[in-house]
Amino acid sequence: MALLRIRKFPDPILKTAAKPVENIDGELNLFLDSMVQTMYAAPGVGLAATQVGDGRRVVVIDTDHENPGKHLLKLINPEIVERDGSILWEEGCLSVIDYTAEVKRAARVRVRAWTPDQKPIDLDADDLLAVALQHELDHLDGKLFLDRISRIKRDLYRRRLTKMIKEGKADGKPSSAALI
Ligand code: NI
Repeated sequence: MALLRIRKFPDPILKTAAKPVENIDGELNLFLDSMVQTMYAAPGVGLAATQVGDGRRVVVIDTDHENPGKHLLKLINPEIVERDGSILWEEGCLSVIDYTAEVKRAARVRVRAWTPDQKPIDLDADDLLAVALQHELDHLDGKLFLDRISRIKRDLYRRRLTKMIKEGKADGKPSSAALI
């Protein structure tokens, strides 16, 4: 296991769409463990393979940092099969430095995926878990939460980021609460 390097916006790798996993093997499991370690170290509640420059459709999520590991999810080829209602959530992202914004998401989702021990699972989620699932699955499609806010907000952030990078103030640390 090793800590993986989390790519940051505007790294173009974050715009690539991931490819479905065809074999769940030992190598994939080691990679998932490294993702989990990287997520806890960040710390964040979720991490998609795209964020560490890997093209496989896998994500790890743990919304319960009080009891690390207890509700840990390692999802292979996750897919949203139902969505319902809507919710506004203040989102941040491990790949987006120093920025959070309210994003509109489905309030509840049902997700199908495979587990590392090759079992199909079906999850019903609401609240932070529903938001985290939608956010991570977006990463696998090459999308950031920045793509779900207004163009003017995105543009303002982009300008502020450029300035921070120029002034050496972008230390690579994402800011606030729900980092997914
Ligand atoms: Ni994210």
